[in-house]
Amino acid sequence: MESAHILIGLSGSIAAFKIASLVSSLTKQGYEVRVIETKHAAAFLGPLTLAALSHHDVYTDEFNGANEAMIPHIALSRWADLFLIAPADANILAKAACGIADDLLSSTILAATCPMLAAPAMNVHMFENIATQNNLKTLHERGWHIIDPAYGMLACQEAGQGRMAEPADLEAAIKAVLAKNDASRQSESRQEADLPLQGKRVVVSAGPTQESLDPVRFMSNHSSGKQGYAIAKAARDLGATVTLVSGPVTIAPPEGVEVVPIVSALDLEKAMLEQAEMADFIIMAAAVADYRFKDQHDQKMKKSGDTLTLELVKNPDILAHLGANKKTGQILCGFAMETENLDANARIKLESKNCDMLVANNLHTKGAGFQTDTNIVSLLFKDRTEHLDLQTKEALGHIILKTMLSLQEGDSVHAALR
Ligand code: CTP
Repeated sequence: MESAHILIGLSGSIAAFKIASLVSSLTKQGYEVRVIETKHAAAFLGPLTLAALSHHDVYTDEFNGANEAMIPHIALSRWADLFLIAPADANILAKAACGIADDLLSSTILAATCPMLAAPAMNVHMFENIATQNNLKTLHERGWHIIDPAYGMLACQEAGQGRMAEPADLEAAIKAVLAKNDASRQSESRQEADLPLQGKRVVVSAGPTQESLDPVRFMSNHSSGKQGYAIAKAARDLGATVTLVSGPVTIAPPEGVEVVPIVSALDLEKAMLEQAEMADFIIMAAAVADYRFKDQHDQKMKKSGDTLTLELVKNPDILAHLGANKKTGQILCGFAMETENLDANARIKLESKNCDMLVANNLHTKGAGFQTDTNIVSLLFKDRTEHLDLQTKEALGHIILKTMLSLQEGDSVHAALR
């Protein structure tokens, strides 16, 4: 903040003399100050004084720059972090309100995009005139900070409001606006840092599939959907656009997430292939039935003999299909639920299904599994395996997504895992 660029524009008023001490004080504190003077301002306070105090040439008209290639009103408007018009006479306020650009100061005002401050200084009747008041209102509505003039005896020997604020008040106003601007810039960059998945599309599958036998019966598994739902919530919190392709579960989906309900593995396959077209990250946390009934009956099956043999046919391996048809830049994460030889079995799945990453857990480990709110997993990558401690499913969701982002950006996954 100490090296903020402050542009000060002086228009014609006896109050111009007060700007000398303001420029002196700001420069001593390390601010970079540049000054524009209108012709009338220069008659009240010579450019030489302000040049000496700001350690820089004073700009008095559009064509007096030493550097001919420089267009002063554009260069100065780009340079400024804050633009103070002080003293602001009735004329410059009227020109600013109307967008008139007929000299260097008014052209620079029109080109400026930084925070604007104005310290009016004029005769009380000029200040109270409805035209001036309307101009001030217009500028205020456009976001200008108006530093009200004080009441008192004016240079024109009339008493009333119109005396420009004191240099200390101008300095305080400048610092307040710079601090506010700085705080909003910091909060913008904090928001960006907090939302690393902004602009990314994340597709998560979750929960079990149900393979129907007849209108009464189905084959399924114990998946609660908790881990997939926690990943969807984490993706939303990290700023992503999230689609949750979900089998039948009893938990509520996170707000702000698109839900595509499915029942069977074939439904899931159709939904995932559709969603994968536009996805940056795909996470297959669903517990997919490997087989479905060869025959599905429209009517309830009646019991007959002492034994019953039902024929099953294999379901498509959705993750393997997604892995074989990965889009450029897409990152694919699979899950593996094992009961023995966790790392070895999981590595075979990672490689055979062409995943970038696989989250493996052992159903028999305490704190891991279907119905819990926690998980203990290993993360497998093409070149390494990481064993994580007990995590809540939501914390694990954040780790998985940040790791996928590192993989997509070609960064080391190390930082995301710490
Ligand atoms: N998966 C899939 N389609 C299937 C079966 C599994 O997309 N038909 C996905 C799961 O969502 C999971 C990963 O593949 O991300 C591993 O699932 P898992 O059930 O652990 O392994 P399987 O491949 O089914 O192998 P196995 O049953 O022999 O352990």
